[in-house]
Amino acid sequence: MEQRSKWSSQTGFLFAAIGSAIGLGNIWRFPYLAYEKGGGAFLVAYVVALLTAGIPLMMLEFGLGHSMVGSSVVSFWRVNRRLEWFGWWMPLLVMYGIMLYYMVVLGWCLNYVWFSLDLAWGKDTQSFFLNSFLKVSNNAWDLQDIVGPIFVSTALVWFIIWFICYKEVNKGIERACKVFMPALFALTLILVFWGCSLEGAGRGLTYYLKPDWSKLKDVTLWTSAYGQIFFSLSIGFGIMITYASYLPRKSNLVQNAIITSVADSAYSFTAGLAVFSVLGYLAHSQNLPATNEAFRQVVKEGPILAFVTYPQAISELPAFNRLFGVFFFICLALAGITSAISIVEALTCAIRDKFSLARGKVVSILCATGFLGSLVFACHSGLTWLDIADHFINHYGLVLAGFLECVFIGWILKARTIRKHVNAVSAWRLPEMWDYLVKFVSPAVLGVIYVMDVVNIIRNGYPSGPGKEPYASSWLILIGVNALILSFILATVFTIYPWRRKPELIIHRPEEDKLLT
Ligand code: PHE
Repeated sequence: MEQRSKWSSQTGFLFAAIGSAIGLGNIWRFPYLAYEKGGGAFLVAYVVALLTAGIPLMMLEFGLGHSMVGSSVVSFWRVNRRLEWFGWWMPLLVMYGIMLYYMVVLGWCLNYVWFSLDLAWGKDTQSFFLNSFLKVSNNAWDLQDIVGPIFVSTALVWFIIWFICYKEVNKGIERACKVFMPALFALTLILVFWGCSLEGAGRGLTYYLKPDWSKLKDVTLWTSAYGQIFFSLSIGFGIMITYASYLPRKSNLVQNAIITSVADSAYSFTAGLAVFSVLGYLAHSQNLPATNEAFRQVVKEGPILAFVTYPQAISELPAFNRLFGVFFFICLALAGITSAISIVEALTCAIRDKFSLARGKVVSILCATGFLGSLVFACHSGLTWLDIADHFINHYGLVLAGFLECVFIGWILKARTIRKHVNAVSAWRLPEMWDYLVKFVSPAVLGVIYVMDVVNIIRNGYPSGPGKEPYASSWLILIGVNALILSFILATVFTIYPWRRKPELIIHRPEEDKLLT
């Protein structure tokens, strides 16, 4: 029987786990949320969410994958035979839900690295992005044409992912992350110092960080903080379970979980400094009055922040604009690629565990089907699809996955079992209080967020944003709800399919029993 994949060093594992966590979410969602939800007050809520859900659940996933020595599928199968479907559903939802558009956005980043070279977006960056580049159509069924440059860049990104994942984890993912992550950190720091040296930067940073304590009473502040923690730490995706299963027996799980979670949050905070200093400069150079209302005009979320507002600021920089643009879009691409490889790996590991197929074959099939699926988002209606799929998968898929994970592990397996395992192998100990967090606090918070979200969409409809036409309900059902249903059906099919080998015999723990340093 072949040896199970393994990391060659503790640092390699850490870089890979942190690489999975740090992604587009850190750069384009966190800073916006912080601004929108009360600056410093949001940071307080975020730290509470990190301590009560982020770190505990990271430990849960590390502990589960490490003790069961298997992918999410084998791990949940071992918890209880009837939970195998859940082990499939998590990575499938991310792979054939989030990843399809995530990769197209990474493709856009590559296009924008190219555009940075001659500031091709011109003066009206919004019209360039929507009309000239994406050729946006407002009809969701405008799927006949694929936009040429996006097709090419998306193919290129999928090829990169295939190339990295094709090799064994210690040669592919580990090596890639060991190069990409330090490069990402270095580029981000350059952007922060550069941004902070611009005129008006202080004003942007004040808006980013100034606490509005009254917002702590706002429930959506808390739901956003918890939602962001889950997405950002890649919890409930099956990724951290898989990554931890490649560790040797003696591994410092507690320390690793803390380092991964804190590094991700620290990166988000730092990326916010780079983003807001530049937004402050933009407001300054446009002579906007120093009021919150005026500043609000320049702060946007998601694609609009990265591909409209930022290019606008880049064009107005006093010097080296092109270089700044290239650095920024390379940062986005690096952050995203190290996340993308992690989900391909999680699903590859699951399929190999159950069907005993060769790595190369599985990775090739996943990347080819993923690429074909991505093409929907490269059509003229891609932005509409992205908007709807993103909302439904994050709000109604991932939060549910996190909730179920707490219930299954906290109550069916018993949190105590994982804690005992973690304490037997780690140098640092997990206190008993952790059981309560996993059994009560995290599921309660996630349950509340979920119910509130569902009630919200039933009551107020899809949040279409100011000035935007609300989407037809048929689109929401066919695109958003279907993504959730289809991943569930696929998970059921995989579960029903018989095992190609006895799961009891799958596992080979990497031999060395020493603590990796
Ligand atoms: N943590 C990632 C982010 O913040 C989310 C992600 C992980 C998305 C893996 C896709 C695949 O962007």
